[in-house]
Amino acid sequence: MNITVIGVGHVGLVSAAAFARWGHQVVGHDDDAAKLERLQGGEAWFYEPGLQELLDEVIGAGRLTFASDPAEALTDAEVVFVCVGTPPLPGGGPDLSYVETVGRTVATHAPRDLVLVEKSTVPANTGRRLEQVIDRETARLATPYRIQVASNPEFLKEGAAVLDTLHPDRVVYGTSSDSARDVMRGVYAPLVAEDGCPVVETDVASAELIKHASNAFLATRISFINAVAQVCERVGADVSVVAEGMGHDIRIGHRFLQAGLGYGGSCFPKDVDAFAHLAGQVGYEFGLLDEVRDINVGQRASVLHKLEGELWHLTGKSIALLGAAFKPGTDDLRESPALHLADDLRAAGAEVRIYDPVALPNVAEEHPWLARYEDIDELLTGAHAAVVCTDWDEIKAITSDRYLKHLAYPIVIDGRNVHDPTAMIDAGVRYHSMGRRSVND
Ligand code: UGA
Repeated sequence: MNITVIGVGHVGLVSAAAFARWGHQVVGHDDDAAKLERLQGGEAWFYEPGLQELLDEVIGAGRLTFASDPAEALTDAEVVFVCVGTPPLPGGGPDLSYVETVGRTVATHAPRDLVLVEKSTVPANTGRRLEQVIDRETARLATPYRIQVASNPEFLKEGAAVLDTLHPDRVVYGTSSDSARDVMRGVYAPLVAEDGCPVVETDVASAELIKHASNAFLATRISFINAVAQVCERVGADVSVVAEGMGHDIRIGHRFLQAGLGYGGSCFPKDVDAFAHLAGQVGYEFGLLDEVRDINVGQRASVLHKLEGELWHLTGKSIALLGAAFKPGTDDLRESPALHLADDLRAAGAEVRIYDPVALPNVAEEHPWLARYEDIDELLTGAHAAVVCTDWDEIKAITSDRYLKHLAYPIVIDGRNVHDPTAMIDAGVRYHSMGRRSVND
């Protein structure tokens, strides 16, 4: 099939490469000329394991090309995927103006009947709105073609985006006609034949809701275990063991029960707010989601509190942050708990320095005031305390000896529960983690 992907960010570019891998002919379009230029040169503009290799394969085979002109990008399109950003607005809802613009662009340049598929994370009802925009535009321009709107939410995780896309837990699409459903079947037929993943075929609004509810539920699990961690600290229990014990119940499962500094990234913080906002708009106060967000923010406050417990006030204290990315395997800093913590520490008068194996160039752009270190031992040297913010392997591998050798005071706040508390405490580290044994016990 001829597929056009509009917006070549994390979701768009990985999806475009996967479609091409499944044998479709794909054109990627974006209005960011710098990104397109790198892609036209065959280079991924962000880091994602396996992506460059996949791009080499499909660009090399001539199945994925890029076009900066929207009319050119749409010349052969039978299916158009909308993968543009939906950044949060100050009121909590997402900014959907980019999605609307794509609707108008497609109405203007459609070369034939086609299906326009929302893949960006959008609130329920966006499909209906998009249809309205397209109907108005096609009427105004007297476009002879029928453009149908479908929803095909994406569930890939950053850091595992290629794997998640090529071997998804499920494929979900919502359509409003048999013909649009058949087009979506055609897009995913090679994947289903190869991988055998389950497919959920539904209406547009239900598909949109599946995405909202899935992300909100995962965020809720994380906040739930973080709240449990707070109680564990107060009663001397160990949240890792509590989570393990809970997870053996197959109705609960083990995943997304890792207590720590909380969730970040471009999805959970934004999506929890957006879902609460949407529910409020349609007359339901989804207070549970407000609590999920508050617990998440509270985890950072609890790290600050532990530091103050050890260091009294933070003015002039040097704090070493281990990890900047919102999770390992990515250089993405959006809503990173580490950077929020850096801001809080700075506001409290601390001098903040940071290490990350891949995200330092982005730190330089977004938080230029942060002192950046490419070497963990150098970062630790002379700092008054270290905080583990991201569970990268090289951070997990730091031993008590290294902390003791380099830190000015041997204080470690393990915001991701990566170290063994007993080993750290027995070695003489003033060790605190999230919901597990700490040095004062
Ligand atoms: C998330 C979802 O997992 C994907 O299914 C979804 O497609 C994506 O959002 C999206 O909507 O685009 P992602 O944001 O890439 O994916 O990252 P996750 O692996 O889900 O991690 C999110 C955050 O939660 C990270 O900061 C991570 O450190 C934190 N986390 C995760 C915890 O604190 N505890 C856990 O047990 C799991």
